[in-house]
Amino acid sequence: MKPRTVRENVYLIGAVDWDRRLFDSLIPLPDGTSYNAYFVQGAEKNALIDTVDPAKCATLMAQLDELPAPDYLVIHHVEQDHSGCTPQLLQRFPDLTVVCNEKACAMLIDHLHVDDARFHVVADGDTLSLGDKTLTFLFTPWVHWPETMSTWLGEDGVLFSCDFFGSHYATSDVFADKHEVYDGAKRYYAEIMMPFGAQVLKNVDKVTQYPIRIIAPSHGPVYDDPAFIIEAYKDWAGGEPQNVVCLPYVTMHDSTRMMVDHLTAALTDRGVAVERFDLTTLDAGELASSLVHAGTVVLGTPTVLTGPHPLAMYAAVLANALRPRTKYATVVGSYGWAGKTVETLAGQMNKLKVEFLEPVLAKGMPRAEDYARLDALADTIAEKHKDLAPRRFADLTVCATDV
Ligand code: FEO
Repeated sequence: MKPRTVRENVYLIGAVDWDRRLFDSLIPLPDGTSYNAYFVQGAEKNALIDTVDPAKCATLMAQLDELPAPDYLVIHHVEQDHSGCTPQLLQRFPDLTVVCNEKACAMLIDHLHVDDARFHVVADGDTLSLGDKTLTFLFTPWVHWPETMSTWLGEDGVLFSCDFFGSHYATSDVFADKHEVYDGAKRYYAEIMMPFGAQVLKNVDKVTQYPIRIIAPSHGPVYDDPAFIIEAYKDWAGGEPQNVVCLPYVTMHDSTRMMVDHLTAALTDRGVAVERFDLTTLDAGELASSLVHAGTVVLGTPTVLTGPHPLAMYAAVLANALRPRTKYATVVGSYGWAGKTVETLAGQMNKLKVEFLEPVLAKGMPRAEDYARLDALADTIAEKHKDLAPRRFADLTVCATDV
């Protein structure tokens, strides 16, 4: 693709990675992704904003054939999907200066062995004039790494936000259709930003001090109507959990499935929404997305030897790492003779600030008394959830005048 116009003399370049299906050997990409770089052409100087994944360097280089030479390379974030072509760019443009903050500078030296003579280190709020356009650097740590920053282009009202507000979503469109991008943006928030919710809110407050007309992230489409994604971020990072049970489970001989089926029905009968995930076919992004708003997590697992099924351990480790604001958690499942399934899973979720509810474990295939205990668990959850808001979906009606 040739450079595409975002604003006059502001171009979207970079690569759409239609076929990539896994990120960081961890995150499924059902809709592919993109690595967006931007080119800001000023009256006196030109700036390239971020690079692309190393696998797509040739694509970026071909696009730069269509543009004047950049004077500055702004690196917002050192993860290699954005910084990975820095060495090749420095080789191609011998006068190119890397503009980044002190933390990013140290990381670029560590991860990409960039020559420390090539840096111009900026502080929070520093500006850089391109002549008729001015870049202002805003530190936005933890969206995604501690060094992450954003750039405000005041003359055009553009916020270059890197991972912040991004989505793993491959599209040939420059600008986002909010209905299309919402789920991908939420997954993306869940996968990498959720552990830093408080910091996310601070960063939202910080950047919305500026009159943003366009948010230009480094993954997914550009937002020319950014109010909905700003409001969505406030909701995901700061909204109260909802009347939803997130129920990841695995079964071996169907006893745990029978219990999960019964609990699903009992919760539904009591007006509690259930989001179920078969861990044998898990899309970790869908589970993460559910954790953003679930009031309770119930893990369903059989006991394997003396502990939980390894797939249930994976779900517990994932939830623990993502630190959702879930209020309650428990375990249901079947065992054959003995074990420490509940203690092991609870230990794996020790960073969650949850109240652990009474687990329900059945010996072998569940009996009437086990179903009765599941009914009691459903009663408890419904009672605990009675003050939580109902499950809600995207509010895409918000517009700029509401923010
Ligand atoms: Fe898209 Fe944290 O890199």
